[in-house]
Amino acid sequence: MDNIPVFKPLLLEDEFKASNEALENGWLGMGSYVGDFESAMQEFLGAEDRHCVALSTGHAALHLGFLLSGAGPGDEIITPSFNNIADFQAIIATRAKPVFCDIDEKTLCIDLNKAKELIGPKTKAIVGMDYDCLLCDHDGLNTLAEEHGIRVMHDAAHSFGSTYQGKKVGSFSDLCMFSFDPVKTITCIDGGLLVVRSEEERRRLHEMRLIGMGQPPEVMYQNKRAWTYGVRSIGFRYHMANLHAAIGLAQLKKMDDISRTRRETCIRYNKAFAEFEEIITPQTDFADVTPFLYYVRVPADKRDDFRAELSDRGIDTGIHWQPGHSFELFQDCRRGDLSVTDKIVDEIVSLPLHSMMTDETQQRVIEAVVGFFKCE
Ligand SMILES: Cc1ncc(COP(=O)(O)O)c(C=O)c1O
Repeated sequence: MDNIPVFKPLLLEDEFKASNEALENGWLGMGSYVGDFESAMQEFLGAEDRHCVALSTGHAALHLGFLLSGAGPGDEIITPSFNNIADFQAIIATRAKPVFCDIDEKTLCIDLNKAKELIGPKTKAIVGMDYDCLLCDHDGLNTLAEEHGIRVMHDAAHSFGSTYQGKKVGSFSDLCMFSFDPVKTITCIDGGLLVVRSEEERRRLHEMRLIGMGQPPEVMYQNKRAWTYGVRSIGFRYHMANLHAAIGLAQLKKMDDISRTRRETCIRYNKAFAEFEEIITPQTDFADVTPFLYYVRVPADKRDDFRAELSDRGIDTGIHWQPGHSFELFQDCRRGDLSVTDKIVDEIVSLPLHSMMTDETQQRVIEAVVGFFKCE
């Protein structure tokens, strides 16, 4: 019996065709496909008043976004401790420090009441990360940030294609980042996007992503380069490559099917697990989200046995995540009460969720989960 992985990218003929075309084109760096990818993203997000800048990874998008917020040595950025390591690393890459905040038990996203307590004179920004298939209270987050004059980094690595109060994620935040890494809802193999409000921030990002070279994007988007240029700012090799953008464009065309099938699988999982008291499922009807991951919470003392049994039945599971405040590197970082995080991290288990997952694969996952709790 085949093993069922937690993640499985949906790579069909279109992606292979797009890759071949991009390779045959011969301009491998940042070029026309990247320009097309940014325009397609802008249209998809419905973000007419925003600017989309394609980058090499989600981590790069976070790093550059935090630099735009002005974060530097001595500054602080508030983030849920229950977050991806990329966020913490991007913060310390600016030489600011993460301040670890707790999460709300219902949404598993940042607890804004606790975040408020952590805002201080050194706070430059606050991270609102949408978790798996749940969305953060963005209205509350934006209001809190406005009241305190700090920037918001919306980490939407998990919520690409989702809608918040009728608005596409990516169209309403101060700074919003996406990741298109190998396992994300859509993949560019590796890729990221930062969505910003102002033309000036877009210009700065264009320089920073290309090691500070002031290359006019209009030239690069024609698969050409300028041989003379100015250098005004710090820079990194953070641009997206043509091949990656071509794959992303092919993936984007499938978004309707990707969203629908992921949503249907999550609804089926929630229904199948509803009768089991020991399984806590995501508290959502999935109506507005394109789920990236599906999690369950199980009693902490049963998690290892649960994962082992699923593994014996050929079903992989994941743990998203270990909390930031537990890592050696961040021991001297400020933190608030993290009691919800400390509880959740011992209970959380990610189950397989793929785009266009077959009925049989879904059934195998359901039977294994139900089987474990039924046998008890
Ligand atoms: C919530 C979150 N933010 C940021 C990232 C980083 O994105 P990337 O892997 O593209 O650097 C990830 C990656 O898994 C993530 O899950």
